[in-house]
Amino acid sequence: MLDIDFIRDSLLGKTFISAIYHFDEIDSTNNYAKKLKDEDNVLVLAEYQSGGKGRFDRKWDSEKGMNLTFTIKKKFNINANQNSYINFYFSYFLYEAIWTFLEENAKNISTDLLKIKWPNDILFDSKKISGILIESVLNKNDYMIGIGLNVNQKKFNDKFIAASLINYTNDKVDLNALLIKIINVLDKNLHLLDEAKFDKIYELWKKSTDMIGKNAEFVIDLEI
Ligand code: BTN
Repeated sequence: MLDIDFIRDSLLGKTFISAIYHFDEIDSTNNYAKKLKDEDNVLVLAEYQSGGKGRFDRKWDSEKGMNLTFTIKKKFNINANQNSYINFYFSYFLYEAIWTFLEENAKNISTDLLKIKWPNDILFDSKKISGILIESVLNKNDYMIGIGLNVNQKKFNDKFIAASLINYTNDKVDLNALLIKIINVLDKNLHLLDEAKFDKIYELWKKSTDMIGKNAEFVIDLEI
Protein backbone atom coordinates (compact mmCIF):
# COMPACT_ATOMS: atom_id res chain seq x y z
CA MET A 1 0.00 0.00 0.00
CA LEU A 2 1.34 3.44 -0.89
CA ASP A 3 1.62 5.97 1.93
CA ILE A 4 -0.37 8.71 0.27
CA ASP A 5 0.12 11.31 3.03
CA PHE A 6 3.88 10.88 2.83
CA ILE A 7 3.77 11.10 -0.98
CA ARG A 8 1.66 14.30 -0.83
CA ASP A 9 4.04 15.87 1.74
CA SER A 10 7.04 14.97 -0.41
CA LEU A 11 5.72 16.15 -3.78
CA LEU A 12 3.09 18.88 -3.44
CA GLY A 13 4.63 22.35 -3.41
CA LYS A 14 8.06 20.79 -3.94
CA THR A 15 7.75 19.52 -7.51
CA PHE A 16 5.60 20.30 -10.59
CA ILE A 17 2.90 17.94 -9.27
CA SER A 18 -0.01 20.04 -8.00
CA ALA A 19 -2.65 17.38 -7.30
CA ILE A 20 -2.59 13.69 -6.49
CA TYR A 21 -5.40 11.13 -6.84
CA HIS A 22 -4.94 7.70 -5.30
CA PHE A 23 -7.16 4.66 -5.90
CA ASP A 24 -7.27 1.27 -4.32
CA GLU A 25 -8.74 0.00 -7.59
CA ILE A 26 -9.54 1.71 -10.89
CA ASP A 27 -9.83 0.59 -14.52
CA SER A 28 -6.82 2.57 -15.75
CA THR A 29 -4.98 5.60 -14.37
CA ASN A 30 -4.62 6.91 -17.94
CA ASN A 31 -8.41 6.76 -18.45
CA TYR A 32 -9.00 8.60 -15.18
CA ALA A 33 -6.40 11.27 -15.99
CA LYS A 34 -7.98 11.85 -19.42
CA LYS A 35 -11.30 12.70 -17.77
CA LEU A 36 -9.73 15.45 -15.61
CA LYS A 37 -10.65 18.19 -18.03
CA ASP A 38 -9.23 21.38 -16.57
CA GLU A 39 -6.52 20.03 -14.29
CA ASP A 40 -2.83 20.13 -15.10
CA ASN A 41 0.26 18.64 -13.41
CA VAL A 42 -1.73 15.81 -11.89
CA LEU A 43 -0.47 12.48 -10.61
CA VAL A 44 -2.93 9.56 -10.62
CA LEU A 45 -1.84 6.50 -8.64
CA ALA A 46 -3.46 3.08 -8.36
CA GLU A 47 -2.81 0.06 -6.19
CA TYR A 48 -4.59 -2.04 -8.80
CA GLN A 49 -5.90 -1.45 -12.33
CA SER A 50 -8.68 -3.75 -13.53
CA GLY A 51 -8.17 -2.60 -17.13
CA GLY A 52 -4.52 -1.53 -17.24
CA LYS A 53 -3.62 -0.68 -20.84
CA GLY A 54 -0.41 -1.23 -22.75
CA ARG A 55 0.58 0.01 -26.18
CA PHE A 56 -1.21 -1.42 -29.24
CA ASP A 57 -4.33 -2.33 -27.21
CA ARG A 58 -2.38 -4.79 -25.12
CA LYS A 59 -3.15 -5.28 -21.43
CA TRP A 60 -0.88 -4.22 -18.59
CA ASP A 61 -1.23 -6.66 -15.72
CA SER A 62 0.21 -5.82 -12.35
CA GLU A 63 -0.42 -7.51 -8.98
CA LYS A 64 -2.23 -5.36 -6.45
CA GLY A 65 0.03 -3.26 -4.22
CA MET A 66 3.23 -4.77 -5.62
CA ASN A 67 4.30 -2.34 -8.33
CA LEU A 68 4.03 1.28 -9.47
CA THR A 69 1.18 2.05 -11.87
CA PHE A 70 0.63 5.77 -12.34
CA THR A 71 -0.16 8.51 -14.80
CA ILE A 72 1.14 12.04 -15.02
CA LYS A 73 -1.23 14.44 -16.76
CA LYS A 74 0.64 17.48 -18.03
CA LYS A 75 0.34 20.16 -20.68
CA PHE A 76 3.25 20.61 -23.10
CA ASN A 77 3.22 23.42 -25.62
CA ILE A 78 4.88 21.38 -28.30
CA ASN A 79 4.00 21.03 -31.99
CA ALA A 80 2.32 17.71 -32.74
CA ASN A 81 5.22 16.77 -35.02
CA GLN A 82 7.65 17.15 -32.11
CA ASN A 83 5.79 15.10 -29.56
CA SER A 84 8.20 12.17 -29.86
CA TYR A 85 10.49 14.29 -27.64
CA ILE A 86 7.95 13.77 -24.85
CA ASN A 87 8.55 10.07 -25.29
CA PHE A 88 12.34 10.51 -25.33
CA TYR A 89 12.12 12.70 -22.22
CA PHE A 90 9.98 10.39 -20.08
CA SER A 91 11.63 7.16 -21.16
CA TYR A 92 15.14 8.53 -20.64
CA PHE A 93 14.52 10.09 -17.21
CA LEU A 94 12.53 7.08 -15.98
CA TYR A 95 15.52 5.00 -17.12
CA GLU A 96 17.88 7.35 -15.26
CA ALA A 97 15.86 7.09 -12.02
CA ILE A 98 15.82 3.27 -12.25
CA TRP A 99 19.54 3.23 -13.08
CA THR A 100 20.32 5.31 -9.97
CA PHE A 101 18.05 3.12 -7.85
CA LEU A 102 19.87 -0.02 -9.04
CA GLU A 103 23.29 1.57 -8.49
CA GLU A 104 22.27 2.34 -4.90
CA ASN A 105 20.40 -0.87 -4.08
CA ALA A 106 21.20 -3.76 -6.36
CA LYS A 107 23.68 -6.47 -5.48
CA ASN A 108 26.25 -7.95 -7.84
CA ILE A 109 24.73 -6.74 -11.07
CA SER A 110 25.97 -4.45 -13.78
CA THR A 111 23.71 -1.49 -14.47
CA ASP A 112 25.02 -1.67 -18.07
CA LEU A 113 22.33 -4.31 -18.53
CA LEU A 114 19.64 -1.66 -18.14
CA LYS A 115 18.49 -0.45 -21.59
CA ILE A 116 15.67 1.41 -23.25
CA LYS A 117 14.11 -0.63 -26.03
CA TRP A 118 12.53 1.42 -28.79
CA PRO A 119 10.47 3.40 -28.22
CA ASN A 120 10.00 3.33 -24.45
CA ASP A 121 10.23 -0.09 -22.84
CA ILE A 122 12.85 -0.40 -20.14
CA LEU A 123 14.58 -3.77 -19.99
CA PHE A 124 17.05 -5.25 -17.59
CA ASP A 125 19.07 -8.12 -19.05
CA SER A 126 16.52 -8.25 -21.89
CA LYS A 127 13.57 -8.63 -19.47
CA LYS A 128 10.90 -5.94 -19.42
CA ILE A 129 10.66 -4.08 -16.15
CA SER A 130 8.77 -0.99 -17.28
CA GLY A 131 6.47 0.27 -20.03
CA ILE A 132 5.08 3.70 -20.89
CA LEU A 133 1.81 4.53 -22.62
CA ILE A 134 1.53 8.15 -23.74
CA GLU A 135 -1.87 9.39 -24.83
CA SER A 136 -2.90 12.90 -25.70
CA VAL A 137 -5.66 15.34 -26.37
CA LEU A 138 -3.77 17.23 -29.02
CA ASN A 139 -5.92 20.30 -29.47
CA LYS A 140 -5.39 20.96 -25.77
CA ASN A 141 -1.71 19.92 -25.58
CA ASP A 142 -2.73 17.63 -22.73
CA TYR A 143 -0.60 14.52 -22.37
CA MET A 144 -1.26 11.47 -20.22
CA ILE A 145 2.02 9.72 -19.50
CA GLY A 146 1.17 6.32 -18.04
CA ILE A 147 3.97 4.40 -16.40
CA GLY A 148 3.97 0.79 -15.26
CA LEU A 149 7.07 -0.29 -13.33
CA ASN A 150 7.49 -3.83 -11.99
CA VAL A 151 8.90 -3.48 -8.50
CA ASN A 152 8.03 -6.18 -5.95
CA GLN A 153 6.07 -8.69 -8.05
CA LYS A 154 8.03 -11.95 -8.28
CA LYS A 155 6.02 -14.05 -10.72
CA PHE A 156 4.81 -13.17 -14.21
CA ASN A 157 2.74 -14.98 -16.78
CA ASP A 158 5.13 -17.21 -18.74
CA LYS A 159 4.19 -15.58 -22.01
CA PHE A 160 5.91 -12.36 -20.91
CA ILE A 161 9.64 -11.99 -20.56
CA ALA A 162 9.39 -9.71 -17.56
CA ALA A 163 11.21 -9.00 -14.32
CA SER A 164 10.94 -6.73 -11.29
CA LEU A 165 13.45 -4.58 -9.46
CA ILE A 166 13.22 -6.95 -6.48
CA ASN A 167 14.84 -9.63 -8.65
CA TYR A 168 18.05 -7.58 -8.40
CA THR A 169 17.88 -6.39 -4.78
CA ASN A 170 17.93 -8.39 -1.55
CA ASP A 171 15.12 -6.53 0.09
CA LYS A 172 11.56 -5.56 -0.69
CA VAL A 173 11.60 -2.18 -2.44
CA ASP A 174 9.98 0.85 -0.80
CA LEU A 175 7.41 1.94 -3.41
CA ASN A 176 6.95 5.39 -1.84
CA ALA A 177 10.64 6.27 -1.94
CA LEU A 178 10.99 4.98 -5.50
CA LEU A 179 7.99 6.95 -6.76
CA ILE A 180 9.27 10.12 -5.08
CA LYS A 181 12.71 9.57 -6.62
CA ILE A 182 11.19 9.19 -10.12
CA ILE A 183 9.06 12.34 -9.82
CA ASN A 184 12.03 14.31 -8.50
CA VAL A 185 14.23 13.24 -11.43
CA LEU A 186 11.46 14.22 -13.87
CA ASP A 187 10.95 17.52 -12.06
CA LYS A 188 14.64 18.46 -12.01
CA ASN A 189 15.04 18.00 -15.75
CA LEU A 190 11.79 19.45 -17.07
CA HIS A 191 13.64 22.53 -18.40
CA LEU A 192 15.04 20.23 -21.13
CA LEU A 193 11.60 19.90 -22.71
CA ASP A 194 12.26 23.00 -24.72
CA GLU A 195 12.77 23.10 -28.47
CA ALA A 196 16.31 24.47 -28.07
CA LYS A 197 17.26 21.44 -25.95
CA PHE A 198 15.52 18.64 -27.85
CA ASP A 199 18.83 17.43 -29.32
CA LYS A 200 20.20 16.89 -25.82
CA ILE A 201 17.18 14.77 -24.82
CA TYR A 202 17.48 12.73 -27.99
CA GLU A 203 21.21 12.12 -27.41
CA LEU A 204 20.59 10.96 -23.82
CA TRP A 205 17.80 8.65 -24.96
CA LYS A 206 19.84 7.22 -27.85
CA LYS A 207 22.85 6.50 -25.64
CA SER A 208 20.64 4.42 -23.32
CA THR A 209 18.93 2.31 -25.95
CA ASP A 210 19.85 -1.10 -27.22
CA MET A 211 19.77 0.26 -30.77
CA ILE A 212 23.39 1.31 -31.08
CA GLY A 213 25.08 -0.61 -33.85
CA LYS A 214 21.81 -2.11 -35.07
CA ASN A 215 19.92 -1.06 -38.17
CA ALA A 216 16.40 0.00 -37.50
CA GLU A 217 13.70 1.72 -39.42
CA PHE A 218 12.16 4.18 -37.02
CA VAL A 219 8.43 4.41 -37.43
CA ILE A 220 6.73 6.86 -35.12
CA ASP A 221 4.20 4.48 -33.63
CA LEU A 222 3.54 6.02 -30.24
CA GLU A 223 -0.05 6.11 -29.19
CA ILE A 224 0.29 9.88 -28.82
C1 BTN B 1 3.41 -0.89 -22.59
O1 BTN B 1 4.49 -1.38 -22.26
O2 BTN B 1 2.75 -1.37 -23.54
C2 BTN B 1 2.90 0.31 -21.84
C3 BTN B 1 2.39 -0.06 -20.48
C4 BTN B 1 1.86 1.13 -19.69
C5 BTN B 1 1.19 0.72 -18.42
C6 BTN B 1 0.81 1.90 -17.57
S1 BTN B 1 0.32 1.40 -15.94
C7 BTN B 1 -0.25 3.03 -15.60
C8 BTN B 1 -0.92 3.54 -16.87
N1 BTN B 1 -2.31 3.15 -16.90
C9 BTN B 1 -2.57 2.28 -17.88
O3 BTN B 1 -3.68 1.78 -18.12
N2 BTN B 1 -1.44 2.03 -18.57
C10 BTN B 1 -0.32 2.78 -18.07
